[in-house]
Amino acid sequence: MKFYITTPIYYVNALPHIGHSYTTVAADCLARYRRMKGDETFFLTGTDEHGDKIARAAEKQGISPETFADQMAAHYQQMWNKLNISYDRFIRTTESAHKKAVQAVFSKLLEKGDIYQGEYTGLYCIHCETFIQNPEEEHGNPLCSDCHRPIQKISEKSYFFKLSKYQKPLEDWLKDHPDMVEPDFRLGEVKNFISKGLIDLSVTRQVAGWGIQSPTPEKFPIYVWIDALVNYLTGIGYPETDNEKWSFWPPDIQLIGKDILRFHDIIWPALLLALELPLPKKIFAHGWWVINKEKISKSKGNAINPMDLIDMYGVDGFRYFIMREIPFGLDGEYSETRFIQRYNSDLVNDLGNLINRTLHLVEKDHHNRVPSASPDQTIIEMANTILHTVDSAMERLAFRDALQEIWTIAGWLNKYIDTKKPWDPNNTDRKEVLATCLEGIRVLALFIAPFLPSTAEKIWEMLGISKESRPFSFKMISERLTEGAPLSQRSILFRRIKQ
Ligand code: MSP
Repeated sequence: MKFYITTPIYYVNALPHIGHSYTTVAADCLARYRRMKGDETFFLTGTDEHGDKIARAAEKQGISPETFADQMAAHYQQMWNKLNISYDRFIRTTESAHKKAVQAVFSKLLEKGDIYQGEYTGLYCIHCETFIQNPEEEHGNPLCSDCHRPIQKISEKSYFFKLSKYQKPLEDWLKDHPDMVEPDFRLGEVKNFISKGLIDLSVTRQVAGWGIQSPTPEKFPIYVWIDALVNYLTGIGYPETDNEKWSFWPPDIQLIGKDILRFHDIIWPALLLALELPLPKKIFAHGWWVINKEKISKSKGNAINPMDLIDMYGVDGFRYFIMREIPFGLDGEYSETRFIQRYNSDLVNDLGNLINRTLHLVEKDHHNRVPSASPDQTIIEMANTILHTVDSAMERLAFRDALQEIWTIAGWLNKYIDTKKPWDPNNTDRKEVLATCLEGIRVLALFIAPFLPSTAEKIWEMLGISKESRPFSFKMISERLTEGAPLSQRSILFRRIKQ
């Protein structure tokens, strides 16, 4: 099966913080999971590089928007490499392939009459790059209802997309495909917004110079959100649709944060309806990481740089925490105390100690070779059951539930080893106990591989499994370690953090 997954493309006006890495790590876990299931997966991410915000940020530094965007896109790429993000394509909206795709979309809609010329008069928030219909008031001055910053009144000649024409088709589509919008409590929000009436959307700017030129006589730059949304088409080769890449269309899962719901659940599907292209199967909006209930963001001054956390706790410590701590879809409070508690209890105690004490005994009592005994059937049955429960959690994008399921294996093994005491020389089933623990550790490595890829690699190396048995696949659940085969040198995976 083909599986196409996307993240939003990130604005390059700021460095990535933990909120950005949340969407990307989640997408990576899912992409790796689907690859292990045997799906042919295409994972797209990238950077959103046009618009006023970025032009202003470049100006502040006294450099051109091109140079600024190059530098910032490189930061994102570095961060994703450090986070072990296995994307298949990193798209930049300043690429010529993307420019071509955006102009092709614009031309097609112009030809169809779904884009027309008019005059835009209204309120606009430069920060959010959004037109504001219902501003907040403070001392008589209108403020953006999203970011609460002052907004501007603008009046200019503009081209409009006939969003209103797609109100009914979109309502009908959502009636027949309610699963497109997830979590399901977001569907009501989207429907409610549509039912208030969709108005045509201004899709060009006169003021902002930093953008893709529209194929119109005035060559106005194209509204940055239209430019950005089209990246999901460019990513797999649009406007060329007769090649292998394009066979990934439509996206299976598009991950977004809840703040960009309307762009993705209204404007984006309306554009696709206008282009007569199939709509995404699922657009899932996750919640925010917050500190004292405030969204983590650069502008709030509470941004946490994932690089710092990775340097302190390792990449897998970071990945584990953000995927395990809060249900995907809801907001979650970030705290370093919670981070350290989770790290110590789940990674150091449950996983690390289990592996360390098992391998220590195998080293000491069995010449560091897989003991010649069959593992207890319970662990084999457990692995097969968890394969199903994890799959059902991953289908729901319930990453936290999936990890909880996986940790039941570690929980069972830790209890088993405590009860069976394989270190006791009078114990006659010592070999079987250690063979069971090794088998449990082997399947644990497979299950954690989408979430903690470098830890899974290290475990397999310690188990002496050759590099040829890569990439990881869930088919390997039914394989076994070879009796008598040598293990490699043991190393400590996670070290306790002092609070
Ligand atoms: N450029 C647009 C997206 C265009 S997609 C066609 C954009 N970029 S962004 O950099 O501002 O945000 C990217 C993603 O990061 C969004 O999904 C947003 O929800 C997510 N996050 C930013 N801060 C966040 C938190 N504090 N917590 C969780 N995710 C949040 O929007």
